[in-house]
Amino acid sequence: MRQRARKRTPVGRISGRSGKWQWTKLGLCNAGDRLFQLGYKGRNHFAESLVQRSMPSQLFPKRIVDVLGRMRSGVTGPVLVRADDGLTYVAKHESGHAPSIRASEFIWISIAGLVGLPAPTPEVLIDNEGRSFFGTRREVSAIDAAIAQMSLLSGRVLRGGAHLSRIYAFDLFAANWDRNAGNYLVLDDGGGSLALFAIDFSHVSVHPGMAPDAHDPMRSSNNATRGNFPQVVAPYGSDIPAALEIADRLTNLPIKAVDVILTELPPDWLAQPERDSVRSWWDGRERSIRAAALSQGLQNGTLI
Ligand SMILES: Nc1ncnc2c1ncn2[C@@H]1O[C@H](COP(=O)(O)OP(=O)(O)OP(=O)(O)O)[C@@H](O)[C@H]1O
Ligand SMILES: [Mg+2]
Repeated sequence: MRQRARKRTPVGRISGRSGKWQWTKLGLCNAGDRLFQLGYKGRNHFAESLVQRSMPSQLFPKRIVDVLGRMRSGVTGPVLVRADDGLTYVAKHESGHAPSIRASEFIWISIAGLVGLPAPTPEVLIDNEGRSFFGTRREVSAIDAAIAQMSLLSGRVLRGGAHLSRIYAFDLFAANWDRNAGNYLVLDDGGGSLALFAIDFSHVSVHPGMAPDAHDPMRSSNNATRGNFPQVVAPYGSDIPAALEIADRLTNLPIKAVDVILTELPPDWLAQPERDSVRSWWDGRERSIRAAALSQGLQNGTLI
């Protein structure tokens, strides 16, 4: 695919000439689907286009112009802010509740988007003291938390079994132990249905090799992710093929995609040795070993 000269295309979108145009319209998640279906050649193509399009998705951090108050929940103390683009965001800084909260959020939400999970877009926000925050656009369509939980648990989310199973597979792989009920947003999709968003990767290690066994839901079942899943998925039924597809996409995610994420990660959010270790984890055998163990556990019922 040849690059359109000088056109600013955010990473996360692929544009191209006539035959590939629909990929631009659909965005990277669906483009990833198409490319993964295309097999090895397609994946290479995907990786090449990522490198060609290494223009950062955000050339300038968004400036925070108003602090509107604390979110009603969240141990990391997320704050609702308005940025200089006029939009509102949920912003987080380091809170001491977990190491490198901003880097964990940025890395995992970026990867979630790449493999097609319903998740917000990561943003970098800066306040007037020069402090940089991780942000996600505030979802105005998110329904009230108490009603959201009731709706989720009573089977009202459209195709909830598939979405919950995909998020669950992703969390197992990422070693996210914290998928409590508050870490799903239930969205009114405007078309008469409810949809899901996976939020909050604050407590996740920047790569699964750094997660202590006690916090790794693939090794320990004593955590919110393993404990809550059977309950939330019960009204819908789990969808093992949907979960396996996520494991497959994580296995096949081009290392160059990880490189782009690490390039976009603000320098002070993660020290160089940890950045190197993220890259080498994704580039090495540990990734495929973990994804294979995940697929096996999903198929033999030990993880689902
Ligand atoms: N993009 C968003 N749009 C709307 N609401 C959001 C968004 N992000 C977070 N929230 C709300 O803010 C709450 C706290 O956010 P989040 O779970 O990310 O913070 P946390 O401090 O890491 O939480 P926890 O206590 O689970 O560790 C969420 O439960 C949700 O209700
Ligand atoms: Mg949370």
